[in-house]
Amino acid sequence: MNRTRARNRVITHHPEARLWLLSTPSTSYAFRLDADDDPRHVHWGRPLTLEQAVAVAADLPAQDPGGDDPGGEEYAVEGGLRFGAPSLTVRFADGVRGFAWRFVSHTVEDGLLTLSFTDRARSLDLDLNYRVRRGHDQIERWAVLTAGEPVDVLRFDSAAWTLPARDDYRVSHVVGEWGREFQLRRDRVPVGETVFTSRLGITGQHAGPWLMLDAHDAAEEHGEVWSAALAWSGSRRITLRRDPYGRASWTGGFGHEGLVRKLGAGERLETPVFTGLYAPDGFGGTSRRWHAYVERQVLPARLAERPLIFNSWEATEFDISEQQQWELAELAAGVGVEVFVVDDAWFGARTSDQAGLGDWWPNPDRFPNGLGPLADHVRELGMGFGLWVEPEAVNPDSDLYRTHPDWILHQEGRPRTQRRNQHVLDFARRDVREWAVEWLVRTVTELDVGFLKWDMNRPFSEAGQPGAADPDRVWIEHTRGVYEVMDRLRAARPGLYLEACAGGGGRADLGVLARADQVWTSDNTDAADRVAIQHGYGQVLPARTMGAWVTDSPNSLTARSTPIRYRFHVSMAGAMGIGGDLRKWTEEDLAWSRMLVEQYKRIRPVVHGGVQYRLGDDAVQYLTEDEVVVFQFKASALTRSSVRTRLKCLDPGARYRDEDTGTVHEGAVLLSHGLPPLPSFDCTSELVHLRKVPR
Ligand code: DGJ
Repeated sequence: MNRTRARNRVITHHPEARLWLLSTPSTSYAFRLDADDDPRHVHWGRPLTLEQAVAVAADLPAQDPGGDDPGGEEYAVEGGLRFGAPSLTVRFADGVRGFAWRFVSHTVEDGLLTLSFTDRARSLDLDLNYRVRRGHDQIERWAVLTAGEPVDVLRFDSAAWTLPARDDYRVSHVVGEWGREFQLRRDRVPVGETVFTSRLGITGQHAGPWLMLDAHDAAEEHGEVWSAALAWSGSRRITLRRDPYGRASWTGGFGHEGLVRKLGAGERLETPVFTGLYAPDGFGGTSRRWHAYVERQVLPARLAERPLIFNSWEATEFDISEQQQWELAELAAGVGVEVFVVDDAWFGARTSDQAGLGDWWPNPDRFPNGLGPLADHVRELGMGFGLWVEPEAVNPDSDLYRTHPDWILHQEGRPRTQRRNQHVLDFARRDVREWAVEWLVRTVTELDVGFLKWDMNRPFSEAGQPGAADPDRVWIEHTRGVYEVMDRLRAARPGLYLEACAGGGGRADLGVLARADQVWTSDNTDAADRVAIQHGYGQVLPARTMGAWVTDSPNSLTARSTPIRYRFHVSMAGAMGIGGDLRKWTEEDLAWSRMLVEQYKRIRPVVHGGVQYRLGDDAVQYLTEDEVVVFQFKASALTRSSVRTRLKCLDPGARYRDEDTGTVHEGAVLLSHGLPPLPSFDCTSELVHLRKVPR
């Protein structure tokens, strides 16, 4: 092989060592095939040359210290002396299980490496895919199964990720529930298996679809961190394993345990992408790499700056009228809102959560002339028009359900369990998808809707397709159906802006973010709680995708009262919106709002287009070439401190002018001594906007 050319390539192969090396700007990833064709993991970490990777591979023990359970497998199958969590479990019609590796070929094309294998005795092919994107350290992995004979697929993960053996491991992840999403946890990894799962049919709030591992030695800006995020919005399982020999690995993919997918001869099953990242520079470096990757490789192409929306939900809930929406629109326009979004209850007989879901035409009592007059008025006020929809769900008390009771997920002889008085429509069915595409495209076209909030308030239950030969397929195919409808809608209305929501932040993942521009983060809009919610959300996902409304005080969920400035500052750290009942805000509140909205519009290019640095749990900085925005928050006077917030990554030789006060700071001083601490009151905040000035 020509070594110079090899160095410039992102994927190189050493035929004699049967080894492949993937090179990214700051990392290397290597694996090889054993003599018996089993793929074995070699390296995931700092950059190595091909020769170094081959030397590492030669040094790996042929067997593990205990003599069984090989470990270090690139993709663990069932069979032989393997006792860890398999990435692939299959059972053939005659009861034979497992996969016996036989290597067939490999291809490399434009950053994509595909290794093709077949079973030694059975008619089943398996492809392992790896993709490297120029300028990013992520490695995207997924797998494809092609059956030549009938087979039950009991588990089929996208990838297994293997870490070097270390004395200790810690996992960082987010946990939560409705109103308490994205709570960051750092837990010691026990010897054994820890499962991070959703059995809800949707992403859910309980466990985030990503993990970060470190050897208990990483901090915000230093130390090695290995992470991975699954691009999937349905049920999933990630099994993290630490074995008795000190090794750690995880395997993950779509579907939870117990589901069976039947493949007939000639059928193919492809997993979602599970993207891995090694970062040498701590949790901050890890998050910044994820943000850049999501912004450039995942999100639909669009200007970085997100629109400032008003959403009517907290102001009105189900009690809406044309007159009241008209008034709210005028007030919203008055404070500088750019898109006015009518939330739930504009359609069918939806005057509460009991009825009407599925009947997607304007409620004739509430909007006698349809939504056209309101949408036109909103546009006359200089704003875009937005709508809330929940296409995947139906109230039994609806014309849709009365006409198509068979369209929901259900099983014969089992109750049709309701949650929030609703059922899940089976998006694995073509007729359901066609129905959804038809009314969605028609509605957004007729009303010239620029912003659509796509909500989903219902986990699956009794998920099945009566009479179907492969009833569990709905767990996977519903999610694919949702993606298809979103993709077709976007193709029909290319400028449409989508917000993903599932009862708050229950659908925040790289799968939905390939078609949604932002996520509704949480129905908890209490700014003091939001600081922690936003801190967890931002571990992987960028600020521009994080919907954040300013709402009323006291907060409708927590009853906590907070100053208006604090509420705005917390929301300004993401994709700000306003979600309070502006009719009840005082003249003073509205004056503050106008002023803070103007300030937000000045700093928005930095928050949405800049690089984010966390300055602790309750301070965050955004940085572009020559601008800096810093938010500091303090929820409680108890956290009184004289510790100053030091800025990061500034030019120490430059000076920075405060755009609001005119004060000029030295870069070196901001880096080493920082900004003054906040005063000791509950719910205080400070926003500092600096611009680099020539010397
Ligand atoms: C749940 C969402 O999170 C809320 O913002 C709101 O849209 C309601 N659904 C409407 O039913």
